[in-house]
Amino acid sequence: MIKVAFYDTKEYDKPSFERYGALFDMQFRFVESKLNEDTAALAEGCDAVCVFVNDDVNAAVIDKLYRYGVKLIALRSAGYNNVDIRAAFGKIHVVHVPAYSPYAVAEHAAALLLTSVRRIHKAYNRTREFNFSLNGLTGFDLHGKTAGVIGTGKIGRIFVDICRGFGMKVIAYDLYPSDNGIDYVPLETLFAESDVISLHCPLTDGTKHMIDDAAIGKMKKGVVIINTSRGALIDAEALLGGIKSRKVGAACLDVYEEEADIFFEDRSGHIMDDELLSRLISMPNVIVTSHQAFLTEDALNNIAETTVKNILSYYSNDGMCDNELCYRCGNIERCRNDRKQRCF
Ligand code: NAI
Repeated sequence: MIKVAFYDTKEYDKPSFERYGALFDMQFRFVESKLNEDTAALAEGCDAVCVFVNDDVNAAVIDKLYRYGVKLIALRSAGYNNVDIRAAFGKIHVVHVPAYSPYAVAEHAAALLLTSVRRIHKAYNRTREFNFSLNGLTGFDLHGKTAGVIGTGKIGRIFVDICRGFGMKVIAYDLYPSDNGIDYVPLETLFAESDVISLHCPLTDGTKHMIDDAAIGKMKKGVVIINTSRGALIDAEALLGGIKSRKVGAACLDVYEEEADIFFEDRSGHIMDDELLSRLISMPNVIVTSHQAFLTEDALNNIAETTVKNILSYYSNDGMCDNELCYRCGNIERCRNDRKQRCF
């Protein structure tokens, strides 16, 4: 039986992992704590650890896991910026789930957009209190408006299709545009012409704070900004300024730069130390969800199935380790495409 220490467990994680684990004789030790130097010992006796986006898998943690005999770090996320892949090289193999449901994220972005432009969040609260007034609920048609999509990979492309379904004109910016029938424009043009801007590119040194004061300055008055990608794509201070000056008409945020110690937990009843987030949430035209875009049953099943298969592949005889994040050549993306065997 393969034993796996499952860190940062939430109630919604368990059913799918228990179901797929049982199919393949895999036992999960569910731990509520996040993985860090103090909690690494909870993995003693396990073959693998399963971690999420806010587990801190740094070099010291990797050394401890290695000493406890852990052979595999299985990320149940696509992103891996919280794992020191270089430190793991030669010691512990690292695998991840490259895609689980791009539809879940694109549809959440669309849900936020519709909620915002038709003021559904306000109407819901009003009618629950038998307030049937429509004052202040005037929205606008999406039909005929322009959507600017930044990043047209798996998620961005689905969002493009959804917007086209609404009868919107779609323009896009991508560092690597492809011949896929999408109308690519320079970023400046996208900022200047879009009524709605949705971010679907990764967080890199080049994209950090791509939405800052200067970018907002180039946008249309009343623009709706949607971010379901990574918080640090937006300079939140600049966004708040744009909202206060009425330049930004609305913001829909599923991610926030400083979300690590806040999102995914029940903070009601606590004093919110993050004043910037408090200010944003207090704005009538800002909707915040707590990194929820991935959270559909379909996505959870795909995550569990792929993670269990990733772990099993380590024990298979063909020399491969599915979805391994290999550091041998120092280029994770290139290595992933060319690899014919395990990283080491
Ligand atoms: P993907 O890798 O399929 O697509 C990313 C696209 O961004 C590619 O077309 C790439 O060429 C483009 N790109 C790269 N650098 C760029 C730049 N500097 N400017 C413009 N475009 C650039 O990724 P996928 O699956 O579509 O995911 C997009 C993002 O969604 C992820 O990076 C992740 O941060 C976020 N995400 C959020 C989730 C949530 O629950 N909120 C869940 C899953 C992903």
